[in-house]
Amino acid sequence: MGLDRADDAGVYRVTDDIAIIQTVDFFTPIVDDPYWFGQIAAANALSDVYAMGGVPKTAMNLVAFPLKEMEIAVLRQIIQGGLDKLREAGVALIGGHSVEDSELKYGLSVTGFIHPDRVLTKGGLQDGDRLILTKPLGTGIINTAIKGGLASEEIIDTVTRLMATLNREAADVMSLYQVHACTDITGFGLIGHLAEMIVDAGIGIRLKSERIPIIPEALAYARIGLVPAGAYNNREFRESITEFGPSVDRLTQDVLFDPQTSGGLLICVDGEKSDELVHDLKQKGVEKAAVIGEVISGIGEKILVD
Ligand code: CO
Ligand code: CO
Ligand code: CO
Repeated sequence: MGLDRADDAGVYRVTDDIAIIQTVDFFTPIVDDPYWFGQIAAANALSDVYAMGGVPKTAMNLVAFPLKEMEIAVLRQIIQGGLDKLREAGVALIGGHSVEDSELKYGLSVTGFIHPDRVLTKGGLQDGDRLILTKPLGTGIINTAIKGGLASEEIIDTVTRLMATLNREAADVMSLYQVHACTDITGFGLIGHLAEMIVDAGIGIRLKSERIPIIPEALAYARIGLVPAGAYNNREFRESITEFGPSVDRLTQDVLFDPQTSGGLLICVDGEKSDELVHDLKQKGVEKAAVIGEVISGIGEKILVD
């Protein structure tokens, strides 16, 4: 699996029992604290392996660093953050590459394993399935507030920990179920990633906005206009297939288009299994996991939100 139909990661079958999953992700700092930035970058890079249903095993660092303007100690802390997150995930750091650059960037390439029959793509949705989201939305809006110096210490701490939280527990629980599809919520926002799941599938999605977990401060910051450009781009791109009911206010809509960093898993599972899966997720500490909507036929490839 590769570029024919974009998914969270590439998959290569090695034997009848083993396939490798490969993915790479890197970005500029989203929080000021270098150690936490390293952790978030690692959690974000690992997430695509979890989203495929796989287990990450090895990783390599990618570093671009402004040697002339920044203390090397900053880089050490970033790398330590990444390393500690990899350790938590049981992943070995086996190499990397660094270049001098005017702008700091950090991320990782990650390799994981999976049984070829257990690969979870963005396709495979079935009529009557339910959709489960495992982390609350709103990190893009809150990161905008952080960059603008408007976020409180408390919310910075909350959202930093949220972005640094591995999707491993969620993936572990998910692996015990016959899940039909999975992806992780990142730059395209909830609606954008849902749109990828229904493209050419001949089915649609109905979301219940009041069930979607949202960081409350994200709505407050959206109210004062702290919505990232990416959210407007995501809206423009997917507006034609999205219909909002009269009860869904503009602020909630902004959050549904908000680009996420290291967002949660979006899991599609048989409707009869969804409550049990959410129960198990909560039991394993994935506290905000919730059923947010369902797959429906007869409306075309559309996303209805009410
Ligand atoms: Co992804
Ligand atoms: Co990715
Ligand atoms: Co997937």
